[in-house]
Amino acid sequence: LRIAVLAGGLSHERDVSLRSGHRVASVLKHLGHNVLVMDVDARTIASLKAFSPDVVWPLVHGGHGEDGGLQNVLIALDLPYVGTHSDGCQRASFKPTAKASVRAAGVLTPDSVTLPKAYFSQLGAQEVLGVVAGHLGLPVVVKPNQGGSGLGVSYAENADELRTAMVSCFAYDERALIERYVEGTELAVSVVDTGDGPHALPAVEVVSQGRYDFDARYNPGRSEYFVPARVDDSVQARAQEMAVTVHRALGLGNLSRTDLIVDAEGQPWFIDANVIPGMTEVSLFPMAAQAAGGLPKLYDDIVRHPAVCP
Ligand code: DAL
Repeated sequence: LRIAVLAGGLSHERDVSLRSGHRVASVLKHLGHNVLVMDVDARTIASLKAFSPDVVWPLVHGGHGEDGGLQNVLIALDLPYVGTHSDGCQRASFKPTAKASVRAAGVLTPDSVTLPKAYFSQLGAQEVLGVVAGHLGLPVVVKPNQGGSGLGVSYAENADELRTAMVSCFAYDERALIERYVEGTELAVSVVDTGDGPHALPAVEVVSQGRYDFDARYNPGRSEYFVPARVDDSVQARAQEMAVTVHRALGLGNLSRTDLIVDAEGQPWFIDANVIPGMTEVSLFPMAAQAAGGLPKLYDDIVRHPAVCP
């Protein structure tokens, strides 16, 4: 197949995206496909028309790569692509919308409030802390409304920490999602659909030194991964069932990754859904795919069955 892999772009996750793109391209080339990696910019539409791919694999993380913007361009160009329709991208990439959609499908997700930057500036850290502490308890998790790779995510249990967390968060987004903290085991469950309905891959358990932040994700040695996760079979099954429910509830396509936390009672809590999960050499989707029977075969199945055929 002639495959265009789209990577890069202008989001904060540009470098991660380039790593994902080149890694996927290398696997696809070994399978014998004719692959071109394109760094997304103003010339991308012309380059796509010139290359005339059978299928496009968009791997731009964050920003318009995941909010449906890039997918709308591919739909307009009438190009089959790997991933999710722009509607599902929009639902999944805005965290408050994603949480509301999965909750409506019966999935547990920690309570949260969304706070625009202007409100925080007017009220101040002490006042906001009083409100969120009453509603969510402490500590809270502060994260940008949109975006991935742990960028701008922090934890706060007093006014000073909340102020610092907000400054970090507002560097990435005008709105902060403040979420109840759930203590437990961090799992990531990838879901694949190559035409026979969504099914979950083995859960990956993440254990970091400190928080699973940007450095812990992309610097080898800062995190340990266990595939399958060291949880009871029944807990893994519940996590996998949740990831499939999330995939369906958000209207996701070929593939997704749901991040969740399993609490001390073995209850999984939905944290985040990723429409373009990382595909670097230290990313979670490829680890799960490898454990499920091999990366090359799965990637080959995916490009041969793009879920989104405009
Ligand atoms: N947003 C990054 C790429 C991930 O979730 O894997």
